[in-house]
Amino acid sequence: MTKDKANQMWGGRFEEKPSDIMEQINASIGIDKRMWIQDIRGSIAHATMLSQQEIITKDEAVQIVNGLNTIAEEIKSGNFEFKASLEDIHMNIEARLKDLIGDVAGKLHTARSRNDQVATDFRMWTRDAAASVIEQIKSLQAVLEALTVKHKDHIMPGFTHLQAAQPITLGVHMDAYWHMLERDKTRMRDCMVRLNECPLGSAALAGTPYPIDRDFTAEKLDFDRPMLNTLDGVSARDFANEFLFVTAQCGLHLSRLAEEIILWATPQFGFIQLSDAWSTGSSIMPQKKNPDAAELVRGKTGRLNGNLVQMMTVLKGLPLAYNKDLQEDKEPVFDSFDTISLCLQAMKGMLESAAFNTDAMLNSAEMGYTTATALADWLVMELGLAFRDAHHITGAIVKMAEDKGCKLDELALKDLQSVESKITDDIFSVLSVKNAVKSRNS
Ligand code: ARG
Repeated sequence: MTKDKANQMWGGRFEEKPSDIMEQINASIGIDKRMWIQDIRGSIAHATMLSQQEIITKDEAVQIVNGLNTIAEEIKSGNFEFKASLEDIHMNIEARLKDLIGDVAGKLHTARSRNDQVATDFRMWTRDAAASVIEQIKSLQAVLEALTVKHKDHIMPGFTHLQAAQPITLGVHMDAYWHMLERDKTRMRDCMVRLNECPLGSAALAGTPYPIDRDFTAEKLDFDRPMLNTLDGVSARDFANEFLFVTAQCGLHLSRLAEEIILWATPQFGFIQLSDAWSTGSSIMPQKKNPDAAELVRGKTGRLNGNLVQMMTVLKGLPLAYNKDLQEDKEPVFDSFDTISLCLQAMKGMLESAAFNTDAMLNSAEMGYTTATALADWLVMELGLAFRDAHHITGAIVKMAEDKGCKLDELALKDLQSVESKITDDIFSVLSVKNAVKSRNS
């Protein structure tokens, strides 16, 4: 069976074209076309550098740059045909450049390989994604900050083991998530520092004999500097791992908040009411209002973790330098970016439109003997008891309140004194949840 001539970009020594399945397993265009802007930007910087270094002529560079700009317009307006037979975004663009400007297009790839090209494009794409995640974290933080201020005096039960532990405020609970996100933001900024070195000029792996100017292209593409080792330049993907870890960690933080929203939205808790815009109904049980967005934020943590594990597994044991396995790097990163963006936006929308039932929270804080620790602290600070003894006495007082079916601050002084005779009236200053919260200043 005769086959068409081989791939026009690398087929010099090939007589047959690839089998259909080879083409399918080899093609990444369906995924990496998302990097078209970065690819064109990288190529324009490279062509400009080649002409400055007199590796190609000024006129050739002008033709190449104009052609690339035309392609950018075509892609933007949806008039570009992406072809799987051309494998990836790099060859799709280069082939189109040849259609547009003829053989001079072939000069663009001087002193460059797809290996340093793809590493450069992917770093630029991930850098933009990281900056966008930081902005999205900031806007969720603004909502959390507003809730922290609004609810700074609204009492709720704080939990350990999901058992009512001590009274806290809704404000401080919201503020805890603000701090988690603050760390995620600094992690992402830190990832951007290491990511921001330019592999361009590494060529296939061993550098290039042309008198290129790596500082020029690095600067033009907003990198801090060129990568020093060319083998590392084409094969390092730890920046992708870091991005995937930070998105997974941020998703994990969101999943904890999501879980609390889900619990709080149950009639049993009744702490929060989600707006209709952020809930769904049941097709069979008319009374239900389900917190699906929160459940999905919780569930999508699985994807984010999975993407990190996928990338780490692809990289494990890979010899230097470039291996085609590395083409598997983009899908998890793109997916984690899309996923964390959705989760951050959903969480923001849910929280800013939710109604918090502060009466139910206060009620709940008053029901679970949550001021018992404050009572024990009072015994230590006012009567000079050892904390362990105070703990024991408080246990007996809680038991007494339980037997009488009342709250701690509803016990009579003489009842309290029947357990510890030195207790005075002053103890009532800490037994209410409001005073218990007020007394804690750390
Ligand atoms: N599509 C490839 C990737 O994403 C580009 C690099 C291909 N290099 C090569 N030598 N085949 O990794």
